[in-house]
Amino acid sequence: MPTTTPRTYRVKSFGCQMNVYDGDRMAELLAEQGIAPAPEGEDADLVVLNTCHIREKAAEKVYSDIGRLRRGDGSSPLIAVAGCVAQAEGEEIMRRAPAVSMVVGPQAYHRLPAMIREAGEGRRVTDTDMPAETKFDALPARGKGGRRSGPTAFLTVQEGCDKFCTYCVVPYTRGAEVSRPYAALVDEAQRLVESGAREISLLGQNVNAWTGENAKGQTVGLEGLMRDLAAIPDLARIRYTTSHPNDMTQGLIDAHGEIAKLMPFLHLPVQAGNDRVLKAMNRSHTVESYLAVLDRVRAVRPDIALSGDFIVGFPGETDAEFEDTLRVVDAVGYAQCFSFKYSPRPGTPAATMDAQVPMAVMDDRLQRLQAALNRDQLAFNAASVGRTCEVLVERRGKLPGQWLGKSPWLQSVHFIGEAQIGQIVTVELTSAGGNSLAATPLAMLAA
Ligand code: SAH
Ligand code: SF4
Ligand code: F3S
Repeated sequence: MPTTTPRTYRVKSFGCQMNVYDGDRMAELLAEQGIAPAPEGEDADLVVLNTCHIREKAAEKVYSDIGRLRRGDGSSPLIAVAGCVAQAEGEEIMRRAPAVSMVVGPQAYHRLPAMIREAGEGRRVTDTDMPAETKFDALPARGKGGRRSGPTAFLTVQEGCDKFCTYCVVPYTRGAEVSRPYAALVDEAQRLVESGAREISLLGQNVNAWTGENAKGQTVGLEGLMRDLAAIPDLARIRYTTSHPNDMTQGLIDAHGEIAKLMPFLHLPVQAGNDRVLKAMNRSHTVESYLAVLDRVRAVRPDIALSGDFIVGFPGETDAEFEDTLRVVDAVGYAQCFSFKYSPRPGTPAATMDAQVPMAVMDDRLQRLQAALNRDQLAFNAASVGRTCEVLVERRGKLPGQWLGKSPWLQSVHFIGEAQIGQIVTVELTSAGGNSLAATPLAMLAA
């Protein structure tokens, strides 16, 4: 184990967008300590594995990743395991992986600098506290030291979950629902925009449960925050994810018809299409109440692109109950979705339920569900052909003069023409595949 101060770092984030956000914040924290990002292709002195515990495969990956971290000269870097596996299995990581010197949970990573000093003296340290003081107050301000943001940025506004769906580890790994204060968020958004962000995605495990007190002292929901962020002149687009159906207030729904910068996209997981299964999952909504929310959103924003998450093979799910999920998919017509085989997670109620569904059955159900979802995604994209829309340019494509970006409906769009990263280009969508669309800039059509 090295006993010196690391000069270079690499942060590898897995899992959800919030982990990506946390990874960025850890990188900023390390940079503030004078530790530099390791150049591409070179070994780092310090590696932070920012892990995900949501399904077994994601969690087990940590151990193989640790094994692969040997450096060119055969030595091992200083290794910190962060994220949700660190929170859930800190002790086990320390036992199974002697190469790891630091284990740090998602609510404690502001303490990394002190841990690195201890680890540098040869000690192994674990910090999986969920301290009352928040990491956000201890982290360096965004955009500090001239760090530039890309055209799209994440901003965690809410963290944790009180819903306790019976299959899910998040309430245990991330803790209780906490909303970050309004002023801190407006400030962070402003800094992100000043450092180059044109689009901000507001993040939370239950982002639509966010609540806070605005500058006038009024208690507002997420739509109140979005209204004030929309007033930042150079911010062009606002998105938010992930929402729970029961926290979709009428105020938030109405915002989709009122805030021009709020993009017409809603990720609203339903998980299953059968009320008995939803009850066993402790989702606390029904198929009908979920579909009613979507109807209300469509009433104010008819072109909204809908997205969701699905789990197949929850314990006890019968063939007929799975067919109900396919019926919901047919009824909604999603623009894009995530779907997973149920994975039993230690410590969750569903892991010890009777009638666990055999893997072969889950494989079959997932295949059928994904076929339906892919069909609908292609149909949604095909229906967009001929539309004129704005694309926020995110990067260069592989072809000469080609640019890649996103439509308002979160579709990947590519076009050839004059542009630069961060620019918003008006295009006509000309052809569609399952995963992306081709477009022509309007300026070129007019020429
Ligand atoms: N808070 C969000 C996201 C939670 S995790 C929400 O409630 O929607 C992202 C997705 O992973 C979930 O929506 C669910 O579809 C899936 N997931 C969570 N636990 C799982 C498990 N044990 N097995 C399989 N998929 C799971
Ligand atoms: Fe997990 Fe349910 Fe909370 Fe989402 S709402 S994070 S699925 S417990
Ligand atoms: Fe994974 Fe934790 Fe996110 S378990 S999905 S990294 S909240």
